[in-house]
Amino acid sequence: MMSLPHSRFHARLGTFRQLELFVKFAETGSISQTAHELHLAQPSVSIQLKKLSDNLDVPLLEQIGRKLFLTDAGRELYKSSLEIFDSVGRLESRLASLSGLQAGLLKLSVVTTAKYFFPHLLGPFCQRYPNIEVNFNIGNRNSMVNRLRENKDDFYVFSHPPEDIDIETFEFIKNPLVVVAPSNHRLSGKKNIKFSQLAAEPFIMREPGSGTRYSIEKYLLQSGNSINEKMTIESNEAIKHSVMSGLGLSILSVHTLALERNAEIEILDVKGFPMLYHWYVVYLRNKKLSDVAKTFLEYLENEGAQIAGNLLVNSPAANYI
Ligand code: PGA
Repeated sequence: MMSLPHSRFHARLGTFRQLELFVKFAETGSISQTAHELHLAQPSVSIQLKKLSDNLDVPLLEQIGRKLFLTDAGRELYKSSLEIFDSVGRLESRLASLSGLQAGLLKLSVVTTAKYFFPHLLGPFCQRYPNIEVNFNIGNRNSMVNRLRENKDDFYVFSHPPEDIDIETFEFIKNPLVVVAPSNHRLSGKKNIKFSQLAAEPFIMREPGSGTRYSIEKYLLQSGNSINEKMTIESNEAIKHSVMSGLGLSILSVHTLALERNAEIEILDVKGFPMLYHWYVVYLRNKKLSDVAKTFLEYLENEGAQIAGNLLVNSPAANYI
């Protein structure tokens, strides 16, 4: 049975508002950005952060050059603040369930290639539960792994879940990767192209830290093939445009083409492709899921694959799923 702590430390911990702006500062690294996002004046942010630090009697920030950084104490407070807000979020959702009203905050983070279908799953869910608020983050695999490690969200979507974190995963839908070329390419329309025939082609790759790149590097290592990497671009959309403009070929998740009706880009019929991976919905094994999160998980398990699959019908991706 938990009860109130004997120490009065919590009385010095500041107000929720102070913790909120401290978390915002920790995430943006900038007083002006914190002030802007929380609709405050910069001096009040600085004053509140100083009050928090004075109450706790430890420096939370340190200035190096012109930049402010979190101290070790600041990093500890940041981690605990996230746990506090997580617990408050669960309380909100439990109170809402008691009054029969599904409400609360759902925090989701997905890798960039999942952004092509995941919002389509949120639409029907939010219509069913209009009082649920969604916080939706998108980033490459590395930044999502960092968020997972820091317990920032309820769920994550990866095709390569990290192996060194204690997580629950559920396999969601297929994620095939295909070779794309401009439609006027000499090999477009050809059957059974050998990967070695692409050796001289310039390739446009995603950045280090990207799951797409991780899949391609794994494939090259296993198959003994190599590619002529000419360019690195952080965005799937910019890669597609670069391919269309004739800058090179690329290997992308077929989901990035799901809504593509543009005839200037084509999937090449290369032996060994599509490379077949899967999307996984991931959460920390010890995470206490809120009622809202549990409801969303159930929804994904029961209806998610069907809704995501419907999106691909009549798209260039349809034959690959
Ligand atoms: P990415 O991840 O957006 O980092 O390329 C895609 C994936 O995990 O397959």
